[in-house]
Amino acid sequence: SAYNEQYRLQAHWSPKAKWTNDPNGLILHNGTYHLFYQHYPDSTVWGPMHWGHATSKDLVTWKQQPIALYPDSLGYIFSGSIVADEKNTSGLGEGGKTPLVAIFTHHDPKGEKSGSSTYQNQSIAYSLDEGQTWTKYANNPVLKNPGIKDFRDPKVFWYAPQNKWLMSLATKDRITFYSSANLKNWKKESEFGEKLGGHGGVWECPDLISLKLNGKQYWVLLVSINPGGPNGGSATQYFVGNFDGNKFTPLDSQTRWIDYGPDDYAGVTFGGTGDRKIFLGWMGNWLYANQVPTKNWRNAMTIPRELSLLSNKGRVFLASTPVKELGNLAMQTEKVDGNQLTPGADVFQVIKQSPAQFTLHFTTPQLRDYKLVLANDAGEELVIGYDAAKTRYYIDRSKAGDNSFSKQFAGVAYAPRISSALNSDLKLVVDASSIELFADGGLSNLTSVFFPKAPYTHLKVEAKDMKVENMEVSPLKSIWK
Ligand code: FRU
Repeated sequence: SAYNEQYRLQAHWSPKAKWTNDPNGLILHNGTYHLFYQHYPDSTVWGPMHWGHATSKDLVTWKQQPIALYPDSLGYIFSGSIVADEKNTSGLGEGGKTPLVAIFTHHDPKGEKSGSSTYQNQSIAYSLDEGQTWTKYANNPVLKNPGIKDFRDPKVFWYAPQNKWLMSLATKDRITFYSSANLKNWKKESEFGEKLGGHGGVWECPDLISLKLNGKQYWVLLVSINPGGPNGGSATQYFVGNFDGNKFTPLDSQTRWIDYGPDDYAGVTFGGTGDRKIFLGWMGNWLYANQVPTKNWRNAMTIPRELSLLSNKGRVFLASTPVKELGNLAMQTEKVDGNQLTPGADVFQVIKQSPAQFTLHFTTPQLRDYKLVLANDAGEELVIGYDAAKTRYYIDRSKAGDNSFSKQFAGVAYAPRISSALNSDLKLVVDASSIELFADGGLSNLTSVFFPKAPYTHLKVEAKDMKVENMEVSPLKSIWK
């Protein structure tokens, strides 16, 4: 089947065929999670963007749906979000039905070619049948470009304290906030970030969310940036602060990254999930996304992640961990006693199977240098480790598989350790061609794709003076039927 191809991820969503980049329009509505995505149905490279569509009841198994939005005379359909307009503020509902309203960027390729600077504008479309079919609003665009070349990726939510819709929009080197009573007329509220955070590239795909820590409410602003990520190319930074309906004020000026790895970009959260915040990223990097060696499809999404706040050394950080629903895919959970892990012992021998996709969780009483080496019978290896002297985690994919397709691909990615705890806790999600590392409760994360010749059938722990306390390995079922 389409899902048995070489490199095809078995526990992650990817399009049945052709190209994807950013997740769009993430929403939980009437018990269904919707994932729309940047899609070019005619090719495995980026092109005229559509919104593809997939749905899920549990965040892990997905059903491919028909294309939701096609390019039109106003341009390609770039990234954006979806809200359920329960009060019918837009007037787009009919017969008491709540309209789903998509707010997206129309990118006019002709305008871009002609040298205009106003070729990105915000438009809306609505669905009255649970996202199956969409009608574009007749008076698009609803938010016109004021002369800023990069003017895109609207993320909208209902700001209840002031009864208004709030839009975060990427506007070149900053985020601009707009508000609206009806999703059709938008008013500028404020700007943020011109002098804060990473600025090695253009700002994209913002998301403003609120989370509580010890009963206190904070606001977190997610901002993707390309290039300028900590390991090169694309990455997503975040700011923790306050928001008063008009202005976002950060608590400090430290730049933090939700994931330090090369392959977690353009991630935003699902609407409709209440206090639970679920983040989903594109598992790719613009440095080489158009060149990765898959054949009939290109690129995928990360595992959905649950966000929370953690306080560390008096500062507030965002932590992300795989959603608990991933556990639904576990066939069983094998516990590996630390004593069985004599240096060089093969974990897969101890648990008597080498699963193609699995989660691994281990804790150590004290954190020293270690390496986890995944190896296959083709002589390739993927190394995950911690460097105590430099206090950082790393993933080395330089010998993990095919890297001939791009000079930008091979190498080691690092994530600084943020936690100051003595003990440590590490979670890995490994799939046919991806690895996600969540360290210290999700404070230091690394996501990386790789393209091995053969499945990884050996897993060794190399640690001289560190004892693994507990290790659990859960082989995962494939999400594809
Ligand atoms: C981010 C991005 C967005 C844009 C979309 C185009 O990866 O560049 O800013 O809307 O991709 O596909």
